[in-house]
Amino acid sequence: VTVAIIGGGTSNEHDVSLASAAAAASALDPGRYEVVSLTIDRDGRWLDSAGCDRGFAHAMGELSRCDVVLPLVHGPHGEDGQLAALCESADVPYAGSGVAAGAIAMDKHVTKLLAETVGVATAPGILLDRSGAHTYTFTGPVVVKPVASGSSVGVALVSEESQLAGALRAAFEHDTRVLVEDVTMGREIDVAVMRRVDGSFIVSPALEIRADGLFDTDAKYGGSADFVVPAQLDDVARTRLEDAALSVYQVLGCAGLARIDFFVTSDGPVLIEANTTPGFTAQSQVPRMFDVIGIDYSALLDLLIEEALG
Ligand code: DAL
Ligand code: MG
Repeated sequence: VTVAIIGGGTSNEHDVSLASAAAAASALDPGRYEVVSLTIDRDGRWLDSAGCDRGFAHAMGELSRCDVVLPLVHGPHGEDGQLAALCESADVPYAGSGVAAGAIAMDKHVTKLLAETVGVATAPGILLDRSGAHTYTFTGPVVVKPVASGSSVGVALVSEESQLAGALRAAFEHDTRVLVEDVTMGREIDVAVMRRVDGSFIVSPALEIRADGLFDTDAKYGGSADFVVPAQLDDVARTRLEDAALSVYQVLGCAGLARIDFFVTSDGPVLIEANTTPGFTAQSQVPRMFDVIGIDYSALLDLLIEEALG
């Protein structure tokens, strides 16, 4: 089976994506797979396995000769459905969500609206564009975040009014729309959902993130956060969380693998967001979750590819 792995991308998660792509490439069993690595550089150029820019048309030719694609570009211009669209156009099967689910999940505002329709709670908040930002009145601690971003880039916890203007300015550097949400008091816990080739779902054990403060970009990649998997939850809380994760996966129309992030509060789970191309190094959340149920990193890749090939 020839597998194209696409990594990099123009978003600020470029390096994270390179790490995900490199990890996947080295974990695929060479006895079963031939890997074709394609890298999108920060300027959007497509580089071949040797790192040469031989043009977009050449890269599409490479993609077309593969049996299946593993798109591992996080964030805008990748995870948001754009790579899925490219694979659809090239008529090559690909792992993970389709165009619409990727685009919807990349939009944190629309994700919240859809989650609410299936009874999954989200943090109260408002959506601002640049022209409306001055109308916002600070009444208490909030989280400010760009609508479409990953790895918490541009996200800030604002506990005092004096910090608000700077936080909004920083968020608007990443998007034209910004969410301002009430702070949710709860434990940050993620659940992954994977659809198998037979249409059944595997809901992973929950993983708790123990970070000092916000699980922000520094905590995500600075190594200061601890993961506890499986997260310690009573049966009621665990069932509610797993049901919520599956409901979000389904209402967004995800395929393959997605990681759904929550705050678990005393009133139940509150959705943070859904990731259709979650971080995918062996140390990332998703592989760690599956590992505890006996699906190691290589086996997880096998399942993803198997589902994509349908
Ligand atoms: N956006 C990063 C890669 C994640 O969700 O894991
Ligand atoms: Mg994300």
